[in-house]
Amino acid sequence: VEEYSFGRRAWLQKYRGYTLASIFHSQWRDIHSFDVREDDVWVVTFPKSGTTWVQEIIYLLMNDLDTEKASKTNIDDRFPYFEFPYLGLKAIEETPSPRLIKSHLPFSLLPNQMKYKKPKIIYIIRNPKDVVVSYYFFTLKFLKLVPFNGSFEDYCRLFTEDKVSYGPWWKHVSEGWKMRNEPNVLFLSYEDLQMNADKVIKEIATFLGKPVTDEQVDRIKKHCSFESMQQNKSVNYDWLKDGGLANKGVPFMRRGKVGDWKNHLSADIVKKMDEMIATKLPPDMIEHITDT
Ligand code: A3P
Repeated sequence: VEEYSFGRRAWLQKYRGYTLASIFHSQWRDIHSFDVREDDVWVVTFPKSGTTWVQEIIYLLMNDLDTEKASKTNIDDRFPYFEFPYLGLKAIEETPSPRLIKSHLPFSLLPNQMKYKKPKIIYIIRNPKDVVVSYYFFTLKFLKLVPFNGSFEDYCRLFTEDKVSYGPWWKHVSEGWKMRNEPNVLFLSYEDLQMNADKVIKEIATFLGKPVTDEQVDRIKKHCSFESMQQNKSVNYDWLKDGGLANKGVPFMRRGKVGDWKNHLSADIVKKMDEMIATKLPPDMIEHITDT
């Protein structure tokens, strides 16, 4: 594990080619040896790619579309964040089946048993230009504690230099892309979910073995629309605010649009992003990046 500096102090460290929060580094042995179950459902993403949105869709599909139950409990309790200290690996390990687990770790850092237990895994990609905008607002406006004093432009540059948490983005998504044809993997994009919600929700439902009618798709769409998720406390990480970890008055559900990067990114960052897409991604993946 290599020390890694970001801002004033080293809160990130490198591990097996990835830049990761220092708080994760004491638990690699437990992460790699974690007991995976065949009936687990995992959502694996680079942060800010639509994780929470897809988690909520999966939760409804796995719980008879019980929107009331979904709204009552924080998503981190219903669908825990694997490598984060809350709930923690031990509590997740003891959760009754079928477990719903979210992770931002790339495939190569997930538990060893993933390879042969083959749980259901949904991997989501999003245009990196929108990811970086969303990530900046989340890390430096929503969260309170990240020690970085740079500008938005500086943050974007760090992203293109692979120096933000869970980066390199291109390496993470290339690993997801390589797994896309595995029978236990469903590979989705944020943009496809935005533009073809009915189709993608049905794909997720079929993948989970929980087929849905058109009327049920409409109910899921209603509960999981940006507007209703914005109003829903259980998916807005309000408990981070109560715990002093996030700023009150800054919404987790920020904008929810495809192409918002056009309102934020400089020509220089767009150029760096385009270079990254053109040179670092597998050639057959490039056309799957929706760049509008
Ligand atoms: P923006 O910051 O661009 O608004 P994650 O859950 O992986 O952290 O991703 C968060 C991003 O997904 C945020 O993007 C958030 O607004 C967006 N998002 C969450 N729920 C959404 C929904 N129902 N519809 C559209 N976008 C959604």
